[in-house]
Amino acid sequence: MLKDDVLKLILRENDYISGETISHKLGVSRAAVNTAVKALREDGYEITSSTNKGYLLKNSPDLLSKGSISALLPDTRAENLLYFDSVDSTNNVLKSLASEGAVSGTVVIADHQTGGKGRRGRSFASPSGAGVYLSYLFKPESGFDKISDLTSWTAVAVADAIKNAYGFDTQIKWVNDLLMNRKKICGILTEVSVEGESGFIDTCIIGIGVNVNESEFPPEISEIATSISIENGGMKFIRAKLASEIIRSMDKLASDWPGSSYYLDRYRDLNITTGSMITAYPRMAENGQGRTGTAISINDDFSLKVEFADGSVEDLKSGEVSVRGLYGYT
Ligand code: BTN
Repeated sequence: MLKDDVLKLILRENDYISGETISHKLGVSRAAVNTAVKALREDGYEITSSTNKGYLLKNSPDLLSKGSISALLPDTRAENLLYFDSVDSTNNVLKSLASEGAVSGTVVIADHQTGGKGRRGRSFASPSGAGVYLSYLFKPESGFDKISDLTSWTAVAVADAIKNAYGFDTQIKWVNDLLMNRKKICGILTEVSVEGESGFIDTCIIGIGVNVNESEFPPEISEIATSISIENGGMKFIRAKLASEIIRSMDKLASDWPGSSYYLDRYRDLNITTGSMITAYPRMAENGQGRTGTAISINDDFSLKVEFADGSVEDLKSGEVSVRGLYGYT
């Protein structure tokens, strides 16, 4: 869309950019540039114009769009970036694009999800104008047979993106919740397709949802969930900045995969599960009986070493754990 391209040029320029330069760069008429600028102003962008100098961006609203995100990325990255105002789930949209042959690195991002999916069949609240809801397609060159490394690497990648975008540190609750002040600000849902013959994973849809500008949560989750804004006294953040940093981090993850020790080291640094009392729930029985013990360490394969109350020591590879002191668990 021309509006996205014009926005990209105006956003990237720290000074005035002339209408002539824009029309030349985009191969469109000056009138078309004027119309695009008018539409951007209607969206809330404060763009001043001066007869001799051209256009200058004075203020940006917190709007996600292909233009606002790709302005912060290298030019070629926009090719595999799809933005929607509203979808049921970015994971679902990307899954169907993957089945039509979308390339590794394709990103689907939306301002709003009507059916955002969480782990274990739960829903993920995805209101408009508040969060970053993004799915990243990863097709490893040689298949692999366990997903835990990838979801844990992703937690590190998103933590780094938040740090780069806004300067904040986050923590990781095993296996891949990101926390700020001990409450959840980000969830990750990785869905895979497995090659029948080898059992290797060949396509991964990595779904990432970050609570950025929400000002409140429904009572049933307010003890668990928070947003970056709530934890910073109601300050609002530009989501396009975070979206672009997540894309950069995930591109780096894809090129580092599978042979970098950075992710395990950083995961261990950020993790706040070890040393705590936990209750572990086996795969399908979160509401059933859990087993209580102490989380001892993160193993090299990102599994969690736990010493249970009966003295047995086990490595948890998947499932869910409640951590004492987090999410209202006392
Ligand atoms: C969880 O913590 O339970 C995982 C939440 C994952 C939410 C993200 S938002 C983008 C992507 N699309 C979805 O439907 N879910 C993931």
